[in-house]
Amino acid sequence: MISVLFVCLGNICRSPMAEAILRHKVGEAGLDGKISVDSAGTGDWHLGKIPHEGTRRMLDQYKISYAGMKARQVASSDFETFDYIVCMDDSNATNLRKLPGGEQATVLKFMDLLPDHELREVPDPYYTGNFELVYELMDAGCQVLLDKICQEKL
Ligand code: 4NP
Repeated sequence: MISVLFVCLGNICRSPMAEAILRHKVGEAGLDGKISVDSAGTGDWHLGKIPHEGTRRMLDQYKISYAGMKARQVASSDFETFDYIVCMDDSNATNLRKLPGGEQATVLKFMDLLPDHELREVPDPYYTGNFELVYELMDAGCQVLLDKICQEKL
């Protein structure tokens, strides 16, 4: 099983959107049981909460399930558990590096999946309110990530 962890700050807006979208694409590609997907936040304010209303609205619109998803905080053990760790912005990467084992961990930046896009970080819709933009970025970037995993590992 190849495992992917998306990381943002609160684990209620961006990383749960990515988790739901990639899991949906994995299912569409017939790869359930080959690729597992999870998400976590570097912060602990929203532990146990379901995704933000804005994230749920976008996922509902595109008929993508977020059933059972609850916010959790990232832990050092995640560095050993996951094959791919993908963060949303530079501050997420900095926060991950500060955790024990974080210096040695390989952390990808989501926007590096979309090198031609002018944005280099995924804007936080908790502050911008722009969940549509995040959906567009997640949809495009998760497809690139899925193709990358298939090439590299499957
Ligand atoms: P996320 O957005 O990192 O995309 O889940 C945020 C959610 C909550 C907070 C910040 C960002 N917060 O400060 O509570």
